[in-house]
Amino acid sequence: MKVLLAGGAGYIGSHTCVELIEAGHSVIIADNYSNSCPVAIERVEEITGTKIPHYEADVCDPEAVERIFSENEIDAVIHFAGLKAVGESCEKPVMYYRNNIDSTLTLLEAMKRHNVNRFIFSSSATVYGTPKTVPLVETMPTGTPTNPYGWTKLMMEQILSDTAKANPEMSIVILRYFNPIGAHKSGRIGEDPNGIPNNLMPYITQVAAGRLPQLGVFGDDYPTHDGTGVRDYIHVVDLAKGHVKAIDYSSDHTGTEIVNLGTGTGYSVLDIVKAFERVNHITIPYVIKPRRAGDIAECYANAEKAEKVLGWKAELGLDEMCYDSWNWQSHNVNGYK
Ligand code: NAD
Ligand code: UFG
Repeated sequence: MKVLLAGGAGYIGSHTCVELIEAGHSVIIADNYSNSCPVAIERVEEITGTKIPHYEADVCDPEAVERIFSENEIDAVIHFAGLKAVGESCEKPVMYYRNNIDSTLTLLEAMKRHNVNRFIFSSSATVYGTPKTVPLVETMPTGTPTNPYGWTKLMMEQILSDTAKANPEMSIVILRYFNPIGAHKSGRIGEDPNGIPNNLMPYITQVAAGRLPQLGVFGDDYPTHDGTGVRDYIHVVDLAKGHVKAIDYSSDHTGTEIVNLGTGTGYSVLDIVKAFERVNHITIPYVIKPRRAGDIAECYANAEKAEKVLGWKAELGLDEMCYDSWNWQSHNVNGYK
């Protein structure tokens, strides 16, 4: 299948590109490089030995998107192109609603014009809000997001399911990601956040690389086994493979399917720090800080539906996630720069 990856130069998109090509699909990337750079695409080409057609384009721009659809016979779209920093979304809500929702609408309009009916969407466990119980099952009601970023994901889930209802030929697969970490085993592609990382693993790897002095652990008084927050960390290569399964699934599916992509296992912040230290033989200095606003105690998936519906299951464990994260960072101390 020929798959358009909107936001395909980013962290999850670049890894998905590799897995799609290795599974025999062909890909086209559209990215405005607002949070990535073309070097990531060159590295994917190097890993796969395949030239990747790519467009520097804002997928909110109808003319740019129309050109991509006119110049290529696209079978399916995977939409990664979103702004994703929770804190920034509170400071610049209009920018987040404009980018995340407009990009989705613009892609859907072009798909309708060109009779493209398969759409895979990057959603997030954030749509569950503050869970009453864990693990999280897809049938649980969505919560009230605590920030505009989370609202964009929830609103887009609604837009997409309405779109599928109105078009009986449409297949929409909404993938609710848990916490992707790790990197491709080559160490050539990985997560390269702008500025000081918000997320745990890039913060740890930058402490390990000497770019940051110490990790702040946000709260040690949560009702968890060691008091620190528990999340479902998933290797980005497993996550990428989930998209290949979703693409395969969409070829004889119509309607909307919502699927968690997680491992089903929760680890605390200190579990991650200890595993990283053990696997990589590096000490991570840390201090306990107050809880971060908006954080929840525990969030992990029930991952059974992905296995049943998509035939997908995470295979890589915490040690590989820690090893591959450091392998990427240590060989690319300043990311792609
Ligand atoms: P990323 O920032 O690395 O990738 C997103 C890509 O989209 C970037 O390359 C960026 O330049 C591009 N982009 C953004 N707006 C664009 C636009 N209007 N036009 C063209 N390109 C645009 O982020 P990621 O971690 O790879 O996340 C991919 C998707 O998954 C996002 O939608 C994100 O919200 C979602 N998600 C990520 C996580 C996570 O923890 N990484 C968790 C849940 C959901
Ligand atoms: N944490 C620290 N110190 C840090 C960074 C994080 O202690 O410097 C802790 C957090 O308090 C939390 C855990 O590490 O307990 C994970 O935090 P992340 O910021 O890495 O991830 P979140 O679970 O907060 O959020 C991520 C994405 C969201 C997405 C959500 C669910 O950033 O976009 O997973 O998919 F919505």
